[in-house]
Amino acid sequence: MQEKFDALKESAKRELESISSSKFLGELKAKYVGKNGEVTALLRGMKDVPADKRAEFGKMVNDLKVEVSTLFDEKEKQLKDKEMQEKFDSEAVDISLAGKVNKNGSLHPLNIVKNKILDAFCGMGFEVFEGPEIDTDYYCFQALNIPKDHPARDMQDTFYISDNVLLRPHTSPGQVRTMERKQPPIKILSPGRVYRADDDASHSPMFHQIEGLVVDKGVSLCDLKGLLDEFVKIMFDGDTKTRFRPSYFPFTEPSVEVDVTCCKCHGKGCSLCKGTGWIEILGAGVVNKKVLEMSGIDSEVYSGLAFGLGIERITMIKYGISDIRTLFENNVKFLKQFNRR
Ligand code: DAH
Repeated sequence: MQEKFDALKESAKRELESISSSKFLGELKAKYVGKNGEVTALLRGMKDVPADKRAEFGKMVNDLKVEVSTLFDEKEKQLKDKEMQEKFDSEAVDISLAGKVNKNGSLHPLNIVKNKILDAFCGMGFEVFEGPEIDTDYYCFQALNIPKDHPARDMQDTFYISDNVLLRPHTSPGQVRTMERKQPPIKILSPGRVYRADDDASHSPMFHQIEGLVVDKGVSLCDLKGLLDEFVKIMFDGDTKTRFRPSYFPFTEPSVEVDVTCCKCHGKGCSLCKGTGWIEILGAGVVNKKVLEMSGIDSEVYSGLAFGLGIERITMIKYGISDIRTLFENNVKFLKQFNRR
């Protein structure tokens, strides 16, 4: 009997040795220790064993079953380890190879600056209103106190579509459209593209402006000064100062042009500020009463302040760009410099 058992064990060992993949292991295991396997079959022969030998026989068969099962378990572990190692080897990554760097896109410098300006003013309670790029003579000029044939129209060389319809030369119509729709308190920014027949290193036929308008009771030039002081500190650095120079715009009275201390030399005088220590950044003023009245706002009760700034101009000052055209050439080498700024 013992020989029979030993032969069975040997045969299982031999067959196991010839197996090189865990795929075939299950079938072979069934052949020996499965329900209809050879070891299980031995138990069926129990009835032919004399009664006094049955207990010993049962134990022997069970021991055999445990031994053969252990052989299978060991082989299974061996094969699984081998297969896992092969998988690791085939999926290995050569970490010494040079990596592929993803080319990240970035915002255009004009959008970076526009967002920064909007953020600065929205933090002070302004809302954004965008007007149309093609507008009428009324909104672009007349409602801003620039009547037909008024010489102030020469300040803007305009692209006309018809006698009455034009590409807006500034974002100031946004003031009028807001006041027509809404009674004070008003605190809006109107950003967008504007168009003028201008083309040189500091002027482009299409550029971007942001208009600001505040209308409420008791709004004055002091509020304008405080507002713009705060804005330039956020936009440039904390030491930047503003200076108001008297100017003329038909839609504001009084009107000012606003300079900031040069961000390159901090007021000492350099090539960027042409030796003056100051750089002009925007036009502004107290809204002309006529403009308020034309848009349906009672100028006896309310007053307003307005300002208009060029996004290109601020961008050029901020980043030291000397030719406006570089902002529109879409040269990737140029644009890449603004990545993550
Ligand atoms: N619209 C003017 C321009 O394009 C800029 C401007 C000046 C806007 C004074 C204003 C302002 O709101 O008050 O040159």
